[in-house]
Amino acid sequence: MSVADEIRALREAVRVSPDNVPLRTHLAGVLARAGFYEEAELEYRAALSRAPNDVSLQLALAQAFWAQGKAVEAALIVDGLIERGSPLPAASLLAARLALRDGRRDDAIAHYRRALQGDATLADDALASELGLGALEEAAEIVEGKVRVAEGGGGILDIALERPTITFKDVGGMEHVKEAIRNKIVFPLQNPELYEAYGKAIGGGILLYGPPGCGKTHLARATAGEVGSGFINVGIQDVLDMWLGNSERNMHQIFSQARANAPCLLFFDEVDALAGKRTDMHASAGRNTVNVFLAEMDGAQGRNKGVLVLAATNAPWSVDSAFRRPGRFDQVIFVPPPDLEARVAILRIHVKGKPQDALDLESVARKSEHFSGADIKGLVEVAVERKLQEALKAGLPKPLTTKDLLAAAAQVKPSTREWFATAKNYALYANEGGVYDDVAKYLKL
Ligand SMILES: Nc1ncnc2c1ncn2[C@@H]1O[C@H](COP(=O)(O)OP(=O)(O)O)[C@@H](O)[C@H]1O
Ligand SMILES: [Mg+2]
Repeated sequence: MSVADEIRALREAVRVSPDNVPLRTHLAGVLARAGFYEEAELEYRAALSRAPNDVSLQLALAQAFWAQGKAVEAALIVDGLIERGSPLPAASLLAARLALRDGRRDDAIAHYRRALQGDATLADDALASELGLGALEEAAEIVEGKVRVAEGGGGILDIALERPTITFKDVGGMEHVKEAIRNKIVFPLQNPELYEAYGKAIGGGILLYGPPGCGKTHLARATAGEVGSGFINVGIQDVLDMWLGNSERNMHQIFSQARANAPCLLFFDEVDALAGKRTDMHASAGRNTVNVFLAEMDGAQGRNKGVLVLAATNAPWSVDSAFRRPGRFDQVIFVPPPDLEARVAILRIHVKGKPQDALDLESVARKSEHFSGADIKGLVEVAVERKLQEALKAGLPKPLTTKDLLAAAAQVKPSTREWFATAKNYALYANEGGVYDDVAKYLKL
């Protein structure tokens, strides 16, 4: 049964027995986990009007308020609970968040400790690091031997921090994109004092768009390698799917993690998924996540020192225009399929280290127009695979030849045409503010 069906069934049951508090509480919980906090709030209120002294319900309502950014309302309830000596650790956790938000750090730490003493599974790395605590040690110290488990049906966010070793030299062509990234990301990360001295704000991000396989993700990773910063690759799809109902918290945690590891490059891959999700069941979860995301971006100037943001999409037309406001993704850059020179460079990168003749890569590049970087990688793989078969048959290694590569080029189908068939329509009929000028230019429209 899908969540939508479950909600529908529960609503029907509540309609039939409106005074059944556990039933209504269950419905509210399902709504909250699906990210429908406003609707959850209504159900918690309705339940509380029938059971006003239920502290779990009061806490749940406070959490629904908090999830909607209604901090004052949340604080009213939580303060009441704490004053009356609430035994609920989750109330202490929320109190910690509220205190931190008000800048009352010591109170926040005290509340957080109390929360963990009551329930070690409430440990929250991001909150702990904002509080200046070593999250895991802290939790382990308080209750040894307990394993952290997911709360509220969501998973625990496990953010991988990479230290990429590839740099711009591993990216063929793309000179204008590299230049833009140098100006907006590399130089500011390398010379923060200089920017400060000239009163030039560091912040905002770059949104890369273009056909799949043309090196957006590759380039993002190389950017981190270029500046020697950490790299966090966030798949939006994962944020939304795996932690349904916890997306906002996760989004916040991701930024906290990046701040804790500054200098750090945060890369949001497939950002269009944020917008795409708004139409279906994830509707309000998606919207809230977008709002948290944009709020975190806006905070990037002040709080997020040393955190820079890149995003990529194959479907720029699905990305909310709110993303393009100043201070957010104020540079939107088209990453086209590699030109001749870039294709030579990409071929060179991918044949490197393989047994080979003197190769005429330019002639291969000429035969691979409209190929994406990924297609070219595929082309080399096809050629190498064939050579390997030959070598196995002959019993001795044979070098890769230009002929092998040309044969493979004739076999591999370029994958970028399909994307341009769609993009062309946007460039022609929905090119507001000239966002798709570069696509139009590329297509010679
Ligand atoms: N300019 C390039 N230089 C070197 N390799 C490239 C380039 N563009 C694409 N590739 C190769 O193709 C693969 C797919 O590219 P990717 O960055 O995942 O594309 P995108 O994110 O745009 O869909 C990369 O892992 C890389 O091996
Ligand atoms: Mg990609």
